[in-house]
Amino acid sequence: MSLEAQLKLFSERVENCLKHSISTDNSIHTPLQEAMLYSLLNGGKRIRPVLVYFANQFCGGSLRLADPAATAIEMLHSYSLVHDDLPAMDNDDLRRGKPTCHIAFDEATAILAGDALLTSAFESLSKPQQGYTAEQQLAMVYCLSKAAGERGMVLGQAFDLSHVGQPLTLDQLKQMHALKTGALITCALELGALSAGELQGERLKALTAFGEIIGLAFQVKDDLLDIEGDTVTLGKPSGSDIERNKPTYPALLGIDACKSLLEDLLQEAHTLLQPYGEDAADLLSLANYIVRRNY
Ligand code: IPE
Ligand code: IPE
Ligand code: MG
Ligand code: MG
Ligand code: MG
Repeated sequence: MSLEAQLKLFSERVENCLKHSISTDNSIHTPLQEAMLYSLLNGGKRIRPVLVYFANQFCGGSLRLADPAATAIEMLHSYSLVHDDLPAMDNDDLRRGKPTCHIAFDEATAILAGDALLTSAFESLSKPQQGYTAEQQLAMVYCLSKAAGERGMVLGQAFDLSHVGQPLTLDQLKQMHALKTGALITCALELGALSAGELQGERLKALTAFGEIIGLAFQVKDDLLDIEGDTVTLGKPSGSDIERNKPTYPALLGIDACKSLLEDLLQEAHTLLQPYGEDAADLLSLANYIVRRNY
């Protein structure tokens, strides 16, 4: 199956899970659930859930057991976007081609919808599910909490915001990208392995190493798209980083060096998974997509 067909198939699969994971039958009506669904079901690329499914297959797992992890990672990612767009953070008004959550609703609702999405991610991972061992579920909860919190994504976001307008060294920038974006991408791959019962071992290690490479590539490409992409295709405002003087790879290295870095990272990813032959084909075609995408 082509990558395009796989992306469509797995996006629909996770969207179906996402739809069913938010309660809409509360006796007191609040815009909370509406804002959560608005932020979840608004046309993201679904790269992280697809990574979960691909890693699960790479480790010989069953897709059904990957669903809770795919759902959790996309909830967590969507929360990070809702909060990233807030006036106190990047102050953006367009996301996935639609008004950002705090514009469509209000700031308080956007903060709460983000909080609830973060919490629901852990509900999805820890909910009793036939086919999992308790050890496996605990490993998944631990994996996501480590990647998302003060040692992972949130730390990267804090570093990003506290260095607006400041020159960073390449090493600091790399670390910031590894935290704010790489951590969740690596976690998606690890969750895929854990959902397949691969709690340790060589394939899990390979996925972690692969995640670190494509996680960095993902954010470098995002930084480049902010300059080279257009708002309609991106579905978010292009030029936002420059306008806000954000620390980015192109700001430090220039566009050409970023492009050649992306090619090097892609080559590194291919070399890393080469020993797995056909088993790694889907993961590697997704790595190509991450580097070549135009939004
Ligand atoms: C955007 O992520 C935020 C970053 C980490 C760069 P995506 O580019 O995956 O956003 P969606 O989910 O497709 O909208
Ligand atoms: C955000 O990075 C990473 C997150 C953890 C959300 P950006 O601020 O560059 O993401 P976009 O460009 O707004 O999607
Ligand atoms: Mg940001
Ligand atoms: Mg942003
Ligand atoms: Mg960006």
